[in-house]
Amino acid sequence: MSGDSAFTGSIPELYDTVLVPMVFQDFADDLAADVAAADPASVLETAAGTGVVTRTLHRVLPGARITATDLNPAMLVQADRILPASDSIRWQQADAQELPFEDGAFDAVVSQFGIMFFPDRVRAYAEARRVLRPGARMTAAVWGPLEGNEVTLLVEQALAELFPGRTPTFYRRIPFGYTDHDLIRAELEEAGFSDVDVRTVEHVSAPTSTGAIALAHCQGTPLANELREGYGDPVQITADVARVLEERLGGRPFSGPTTAIFFSGVA
Ligand SMILES: C[S@@+](CC[C@H](N)C(=O)[O-])C[C@H]1O[C@@H](n2cnc3c(N)ncnc32)[C@H](O)[C@@H]1O
Repeated sequence: MSGDSAFTGSIPELYDTVLVPMVFQDFADDLAADVAAADPASVLETAAGTGVVTRTLHRVLPGARITATDLNPAMLVQADRILPASDSIRWQQADAQELPFEDGAFDAVVSQFGIMFFPDRVRAYAEARRVLRPGARMTAAVWGPLEGNEVTLLVEQALAELFPGRTPTFYRRIPFGYTDHDLIRAELEEAGFSDVDVRTVEHVSAPTSTGAIALAHCQGTPLANELREGYGDPVQITADVARVLEERLGGRPFSGPTTAIFFSGVA
């Protein structure tokens, strides 16, 4: 697994406790509502991470059986701490590009902010379609452009100031690198989905201190792996980013626009 996809070490807990409430929960509420509208009895979630969508979906669809999968077992361990496995919830390690499930096994597939990490997205879409009952829907979200996600843009600008001419590239390459609506539509159709819908959804991030923003980004995402490999100790860089953010924002908790792309298709 490349460092870009390794959610291990300090990442799962910081991701779940700081990043999820800051920028992920509002989109999870929207995505869960979209999935619940079809009242599925069995749902597969891919790239479930620490389970923010799983928990939200379980609240709005308490009778559904949810199989929540992720490449990194450490993320699922964190997820299981908050919502333990039960008759309704199953946590299972799986690569979304090679799903260990029968054809037509699920009434819905959902995936939030993980597809950008898949090396072969069309293969992952084809797998999602294969495990869906014919006529059922896959619903997913990816991040919109970095320019529409101000809190992460500010972190990138702080890193650019700290490392002139060699800003770390993780954010633009991976989480904010799959933003072309036409490409998303084309890849879904190539995998065989019909009735494809692609749209922009916007929220505002929860107010968060500059220290927590720096910590969550530099040690709670795979940016930490890129920093460790090419820039220095992520703990020291966290302190440097926090200082730059504080100079810029005056120490106030920060809240800014967040932008995602929601899409769906019928199997
Ligand atoms: C940004 S997190 C999103 C997690 C969660 N869905 C959320 O909204 O908080 C991206 C997740 O994608 C997972 N991931 C990366 N590559 C994957 C793959 N090939 N198959 C399944 N999951 C993968 C990572 O382990 C990580 O948990």
